[in-house]
Amino acid sequence: MNLKISPSILAADFANLGRDILMINQSEADWVHFDVMDGVFVPNISFGIPVIKAVKKITTKPLDVHLMIVNPDQFIKPFRESGADILTVHYEACTHLHRTIGAIHAEGMQAGVALNPHTPVELLENIINDLDLVLLMSVNPGFGGQKFIQNTYQKVVKLRRLILEKGANAVIEIDGGVNLETGRLLVEAGADVLVAGSFVFDSEDPAGTIHRLKNI
Ligand code: DX5
Ligand code: ZN
Repeated sequence: MNLKISPSILAADFANLGRDILMINQSEADWVHFDVMDGVFVPNISFGIPVIKAVKKITTKPLDVHLMIVNPDQFIKPFRESGADILTVHYEACTHLHRTIGAIHAEGMQAGVALNPHTPVELLENIINDLDLVLLMSVNPGFGGQKFIQNTYQKVVKLRRLILEKGANAVIEIDGGVNLETGRLLVEAGADVLVAGSFVFDSEDPAGTIHRLKNI
């Protein structure tokens, strides 16, 4: 199993973002996770295109962009142009999800769908074979540093079963409250990618924390 770690820059030091990205470059992190929030889909505003453009210039890792926004269709091209490699939209924000996934692929990006904690994985039954990634939120989206929601483990097991049943290729990414304890149980349940924000950036040694997650 080749576990991937995708540190969320939501928890980074924005007054020293270049330093934190260089740390990620030199670490065992696989991707860089961007939590884009519009203050409408979630009760918080984070950052957008200018930050992603700036990071794209200095990072050596794929950009894993998580859109916690309404009307993501209107931003597919701009996020591609800013450097996104993986673009994940929320199931709950898409009226025509099949069309949205097709549009993300047409722009040359990998396409992901994120599910809020209350959204059942079964709803992906008719789209799972079109997806490169499913992001399961293990906190209610909008803020880093929240408490991990325990029933996420069961959702991972159900999603893994759906992927196997349908012969799909989507990877399972988990986002929110990830640390060594929750991360270990998530990997046992079938997770492929762990997003970690505060556990990494609030630690004394972020690169060392990434190493410990990578070798969980
Ligand atoms: C929630 C954000 C957070 C962030 C990670 O909207 O998506 O989950 O990525 O937060 P931590 O790792 O600090 O819980
Ligand atoms: Zn995220």
